[in-house]
Amino acid sequence: MIRDNLYHHEHGGEPERRFFVEHRSLLDFSVNISPLFPSLPETALSAFDVHRYPSIDGRGVRDFYCGRFGLDGGTVLPVNGAVEGIYLVPRALKLKRVMVLAPSFFDYERACRIAGAKVSCLRLEEQATFTLPGIEVISGKLESVDALIAANPNNPTGTRFPKEVFLALASRFPEKWFIMDEAFIQFSDDFPDASMMRDVRALKNVMVLHSLTKFYALPGLRLGAVIAHHDVIGMLLRHKEPWTVNVVAEDVARQLLHCGEFERDVRMLIASERAKIFKQVNKIPEITLKGYGANFFLAQWNAETGLDDLLKYLIGKNIYVRDCRNFPGLEDNYFRFAIRKPEENRYLLEQLQQAGEGVKAMLK
Ligand SMILES: Cc1ncc(COP(=O)(O)O)c(C=O)c1O
Repeated sequence: MIRDNLYHHEHGGEPERRFFVEHRSLLDFSVNISPLFPSLPETALSAFDVHRYPSIDGRGVRDFYCGRFGLDGGTVLPVNGAVEGIYLVPRALKLKRVMVLAPSFFDYERACRIAGAKVSCLRLEEQATFTLPGIEVISGKLESVDALIAANPNNPTGTRFPKEVFLALASRFPEKWFIMDEAFIQFSDDFPDASMMRDVRALKNVMVLHSLTKFYALPGLRLGAVIAHHDVIGMLLRHKEPWTVNVVAEDVARQLLHCGEFERDVRMLIASERAKIFKQVNKIPEITLKGYGANFFLAQWNAETGLDDLLKYLIGKNIYVRDCRNFPGLEDNYFRFAIRKPEENRYLLEQLQQAGEGVKAMLK
């Protein structure tokens, strides 16, 4: 397996490189984006003026956050996808020692190292569904760092953590930063209660990284925001590049304010498909489900055949899932698959149900 590339971590989504197949011909369960797309008026995609600069500060995206989530504009810093925030924050805050969850999204560690910080890990508890250790254990480990970066729900484990744990820690350690990545929060059943977006005004040491690329299925557009206390946004602005949110993203963000029906549809679809898949996959002896708090599942292949065999078998069925073995802690045959449309999920389930025997037959 190729582990080292330009970014020292293989991100998902490139089956061509590994399996020499045409990506377009596959059902891609490896990317965690919404299976439905918002229907945006034609004008949203054709009538913007790319011959002018966008607003210097991504105003269109800020308008969305204020209008949709009732946030105060001064607490919203629009960015070119949550990933811009992930790289901006450690640099702007001059973090020296950061604790990240493990396993989790790789770019936290990379961003912190580039910013000159040392990175330590807070191991999630595998025997359960990759849950957090107890609050006293976390408190002990926090003593030696400036910041904790945690995704909620976490990717790739799919774990949803109770926000009360982070709120309690943020109150107990006001001198430490709590950087919460809520890229997948709108997929969770208890959104908006699950989100810490509204807690940043009271807790100056909490910030939320949010993405519009997952829930609204717009990864190609790059749009999201850092949500934090006004004073913290001021600090970040001193280090942020101007014009990182483009004209198209600004325009589309404003259109998203009218996508209430789409939001309800996605949430209903994810909740009902999640329950169905959970029930069915739990009956497959070769697969153990771990996390399922967002729009994807973390699963473990327990058959005597290896994960490579399963992946090859699924590719033969036109299905691509995310090999998670390059996340430290997930080497033991873990893979992830997204929740897609009902008929696509049904097809995946059928193939997973037959995979135990199917893989053996393929190897004969
Ligand atoms: C946990 C997590 N946060 C942030 C991102 C990046 O999101 P965006 O597309 O908004 O940059 C990803 C992308 O996969 C992710 O998994």
